[in-house]
This record gives sequence, C-alpha cells and structure tokens, in this order.
Amino acid sequence: MAEDLSIIAGTKKQQYESIIPQIKGLLDGEPDLIANTANIVAALKEQFGWFWVGFYFVKNEELILGPFQGPVACTRIRKGKGVCGTSWAKAETIIVPDVEKFPGHIACSSLSKSEIVIPVIRDSIVVAVLDVDSELPDQFDESDKYYLEEIVRLVAF
Ligand code: SME
Repeated sequence: MAEDLSIIAGTKKQQYESIIPQIKGLLDGEPDLIANTANIVAALKEQFGWFWVGFYFVKNEELILGPFQGPVACTRIRKGKGVCGTSWAKAETIIVPDVEKFPGHIACSSLSKSEIVIPVIRDSIVVAVLDVDSELPDQFDESDKYYLEEIVRLVAF
C-alpha cells in the first residue's frame, strides 16, 4: 500500500488520472469497507480540495453517514430526500450546478454551492452514495461523473 499520495496540479482529467491509480494502490489487498472508503475520500479531498466529500451507506432503508472529509454533516437521509436520497431512489448520478435551485436540497452547510452524488450499485441495488460538495457554483460535470463512477466501482461492498 502506498503511504504517501502524489498530488499534482493540472486539468481535472489529469488530476483524476493521477489519483485513480493511487486509489487502486490504497485499496489493493485490503477488504475492509470502512478502511477503503475512508482512504478514498481522504485521497479525493487531498487531490481536489473539495469542501466536503464522503460516503453515505444504505442501512435499514436510510442513508447513514459514513467516512467523510470536511465539516460535520447530516447523519441520516431518507430515500428520495435531498440530492443524496434522490440519487439513491433513481439509482443515478446527479449533478447539481446550483444547490439553491435543487428542490429539497439538504443544506448540511450553507457554504456548499454545487454538488455531485454518485450511487454505488451492487447486484442492481444501491448500497451507498458518494457525495461531493464544492464552495463554488457549477464545479461538476460529465467528466466528474465518469471518473467518480469509476472510483466507486473499485470498492468491494
Ligand atoms: N446536500 C446533501 C446532503 C448531504 S451534505 O451535503 C454532506 C443532499 O441534499 O442530499
């Protein structure tokens, strides 16, 4: 397992293509879900400096806060509620350029301005979501969707 991350400057694509092999290295040979999701959010936070990045796990028909980096956050989200609960209900990635325009957005912090939520799907069932928030508007696009979906596929649930 790599002990230090190499953090680079560059385009978003270059940053993802630098961090993804390092995330694979962090996960290699480690089966523990909490350890792996914790290292993924730490690696993403270090590389991109996002305001908040973390997992919510589906447990007993609710999303429960998992490993994250950033300010303290809401612990439970119901299916269909907020961006996270909507991503879970629809089993699809949701990009929100302006959180104030997303009906039902759950504001864990008023500093968050844009957001992307990626569902983690195993055997056709959503088992978790990865939520990323930025303090700047319109920070996420199809390239984030592409690479973050690749990253969540790396985790064994
Ligand atoms: N904004 C999210 C809630 C989670 S926090 O941003 C960490 C939502 O609307 O689901």
